Amino acid sequence: MSGHGTPIPMQSRAGGPLSGTAEIPGDKSVSHRSLILGALSVGQTNIRGLLEGEDILDTAKAMASFGADVERIGYGEWTVNGVGVGGFAEPEDVIDCGNAGTGVRLIMGAMSTSPITATFTGDASLRSRPMGRITDPLALFGAQSVGRDKGMLPLTMVGARDPLPVRYTSPHPSAQIKSAVLLAGLNTPGKTVLIEKEKTRDHTERMLRGFGAEIETVETDEGFEITLTGQPELKAQDIAVPRDPSSAAFPVCAALIVEGSEIVLPNIGLNPTRAGLFTTLVEMGADITFENEREEGGEPVADLRVKASKLKGIEVPEDRAPSMIDEYPILSAVAAFATGKTVMRGVKELRVKECDRIDAMARGLEAQGVQIEEGEDFLIVHGQSGDVKGGGTAKTFIDHRIAMSFLCMGLATKEPVSVDDGAAIATSFPIFQDLMKGLGADIS
Ligand code: S3P
Repeated sequence: MSGHGTPIPMQSRAGGPLSGTAEIPGDKSVSHRSLILGALSVGQTNIRGLLEGEDILDTAKAMASFGADVERIGYGEWTVNGVGVGGFAEPEDVIDCGNAGTGVRLIMGAMSTSPITATFTGDASLRSRPMGRITDPLALFGAQSVGRDKGMLPLTMVGARDPLPVRYTSPHPSAQIKSAVLLAGLNTPGKTVLIEKEKTRDHTERMLRGFGAEIETVETDEGFEITLTGQPELKAQDIAVPRDPSSAAFPVCAALIVEGSEIVLPNIGLNPTRAGLFTTLVEMGADITFENEREEGGEPVADLRVKASKLKGIEVPEDRAPSMIDEYPILSAVAAFATGKTVMRGVKELRVKECDRIDAMARGLEAQGVQIEEGEDFLIVHGQSGDVKGGGTAKTFIDHRIAMSFLCMGLATKEPVSVDDGAAIATSFPIFQDLMKGLGADIS
């Protein structure tokens, strides 16, 4: 759980070049799914490289509350003895998902087609995020829910006793909506169909297939149509979680803007539905090489070598947004060091993340002396050719990625950059400060 404790003000300042090897923790999206699918399988799922961030620990606790036997063996090494599809028990207490939108939305999907009732809550950030986008499609299966105004948490969901298969076109480019519907489809007879107009991260589809479900995606005039055959017996798996490209983004971007830096990041997940930031950075002139490209556990991975680079602003193609949706905060921070402006359009989903990320980045960048333009679904950052003043304090709104973006920025500004609260960093990247310090960064 985050956002309950006292704020942790943090500051970063410019120092020498960054160098060395950055061992990035496991992927957050794959970690959530490993625990949830492990809990819905028969047998023992063995997970290596699980992210031990607060978001994931909350999902692990939740799976235990629904009856799975979840055990930590060692660092990143966990086992889950599942209850099988349809085997969830009714939790005895409220499920607290902390800061995790993915956790709560996927778990709601997974329990919504079992005849049990569960109440969900989270921290102040999660309690302010829209849940109607999940409860609307789950209602089509027959699940009922009562939340606060606009369906926000705390929310109680009564799972469908006799779920009906659903054909649903997602109104937003969101892997969380897609995954909630597919997980609901697991305990539903017949075929559940989810259509997404833009392709979002596909870990749920890949992993469901790996666990033995019948699932296929075809491209039609309507978009990507995913069909899941309900009531499979999911079989426990051995999972090696790839390292999180969304966490890697922070040291990668820091190394690009701190003069003379060169760092290596082994084993980074490069699923094409996640790797949009790296494509964008290369287009901006970043010196990133992808070494030892290979496949591990069904996901493409590579070792990244990154050298400090002179960047130029670009217009990021709108259709790339789903593949880098979590990376716009750090992209806007490095864009301040580029020459020319960086235009990010079609990004209104940023307004419903852990905070309103367009607003948080815009205000924080202004506080560092950077000129921006902002609209409902766009952000334009005017680059200052490496010459960024800094010296301001950014408000982070219980958002890990906002905090890390500004702390990376401060490693190359003229004056130190402060953030009002870095506590939320522990939700996704608990070793961020130590890892960055190990590369030579001055973060206190
Ligand atoms: C996630 C999906 C994305 C992303 C989040 C993780 C997932 O959210 O922002 O950090 O693991 O499915 P949306 O699906 O709402 O875009």
